[in-house]
Amino acid sequence: MRSRNARARLWTGIGAAATPLAAVAALAVAVAAPAQAATAVKTLAEAQGRYFGTAMTSGDVTNSAESSVAAAQFDMVTPGNEMKWDATEPSRGSFSFSRGDQILNWGQSHGMRVRGHNLVWHSQLPSWVNSLPTNQVQAAMESHINGVAGHYRGKVYAWDVINEPFNEDGSLRQDAFYKAMGSGYLADALRTAHAADPDARLYINDYNIEGVNAKSNALYSLAQQMLAQGVPLQGIGLESHFIVGQVPSSLLQNMQRFAALGLDVAVTELDDRIPLPASSANLQQQGTDYGNVVKACLAVPRCVGISQWGVDDGHSWIPGTFPGYGAAMFYDANYQPKPAYNATVAALSGPASPPPTTAPPTTAPPTTAPPTTAPPTTAPPTTAPPTTTPPGGAGCTATYQVTNSWPGGFQVSVAVTNGGSSAINGWTVRFTLASGQTITSLWSGVNTGTSGSVTVRNAAYNGTVAAGGATSFGFTGTGSAAPATGVSCTSS
Ligand code: G3I
Repeated sequence: MRSRNARARLWTGIGAAATPLAAVAALAVAVAAPAQAATAVKTLAEAQGRYFGTAMTSGDVTNSAESSVAAAQFDMVTPGNEMKWDATEPSRGSFSFSRGDQILNWGQSHGMRVRGHNLVWHSQLPSWVNSLPTNQVQAAMESHINGVAGHYRGKVYAWDVINEPFNEDGSLRQDAFYKAMGSGYLADALRTAHAADPDARLYINDYNIEGVNAKSNALYSLAQQMLAQGVPLQGIGLESHFIVGQVPSSLLQNMQRFAALGLDVAVTELDDRIPLPASSANLQQQGTDYGNVVKACLAVPRCVGISQWGVDDGHSWIPGTFPGYGAAMFYDANYQPKPAYNATVAALSGPASPPPTTAPPTTAPPTTAPPTTAPPTTAPPTTAPPTTTPPGGAGCTATYQVTNSWPGGFQVSVAVTNGGSSAINGWTVRFTLASGQTITSLWSGVNTGTSGSVTVRNAAYNGTVAAGGATSFGFTGTGSAAPATGVSCTSS
């Protein structure tokens, strides 16, 4: 693994002197009481059919103040380090899941969904992998994926199967996997992960791919090729480690072009670092940045959720990796909400997500410059009106909408809304697909049947829907883009 300083150079080239402020912030944490925000970001996100998550390490979940703030605010958790290769298979064939299980159990005990992070990454890779003869790397990689994704089968909603595979110029990193297998390791990893956990949404996750640039263009081309070859790639993780004031103006367009391929997109590791000491102007700008990220996600139906990389400024990785920078979270080190938190709440409280469109939505972040590379044109999605069922059971309704289509295929999003006055703890949506339609991949639910009459029950993590809240599932299919008939929802 690279040293922290080497990593900082790779990310931005910033090499400022270290500051003692991080230590001051850490001390403040010990004496602070958690802030009680009026409305949790998770509740607002759920009402928009999204999640709002955080990253937690073993240290974070055992910190009672931090843990209670996280449990109150977030509905998704990504283990910060505990499911990585060095944690789960420190020596060949010897698996250790205690730390990963700790985060999984913490998340599940707080009703959160859990994101698996990650399976194949050049960093936090034990030295035994890098020391293998190249003709043994593929077997080791597949064994690792089988061991880890197999252990968490059915328990995580998604996996960052491949983490940070690209260099900044769009070439693939010359890591142990590439050296052994060439670019073929990417599809092999995804196929192996899919076999190990068929229900997990499988992602490629990377940083500096949030805007349209050489790196995201290379990923876009790779995704196109993979989908054409039937490789089980289902999502793109935009890490979103931003510098204040530098959220790319092409973020929305970039999300849209990946979504138009039929992929989920997710903001997986959001933070927005500020030169220390943080000025009031920069804290306000950070609020603008956070608001724009949230608005962009809400404007893209396939943007499934947002996750901050940590809870508060006292427990962020930023000061240790980027000396002179910090204050990157939406809570300060005393768990007090910052302008970024308020902007997040305001953006999540905005109008319900607009129907899918290729035209820039009104909630698009302001563009300061046109993207240097125009996103490829794609066929406009079908805009058939959504079908909303009458309430069933304790008030659940299902809104079925074809969100994209292409010759011979289509994509659907179904919103499940609890219009009742009490929470529901499980839901079932039934519908009848048009003749010739077949579901090829369904996410955030468990289906019975792939053609004709189909029943979809909630996944383990999204059965509970608060009064007035919503969740969603989706699928892709082959056949015409005709809407389903007989859509109904029952709840328990
Ligand atoms: O486990 C050792 C411990 O034994 C040792 O005493 C200690 C001394 O520094 O280091 C510990 O390892 C640290 C590890 O986190 C676990 O705490 C490493 O030094 C430290 O570099 C490592 O940092 C992690 C970093 O990934 C590594 O690249 C951060 O916590 C983690 O937040 C960060 O997360 C990544 C995502 O996985 C991928 N995207 C970028 C993101 C931020 O870098």
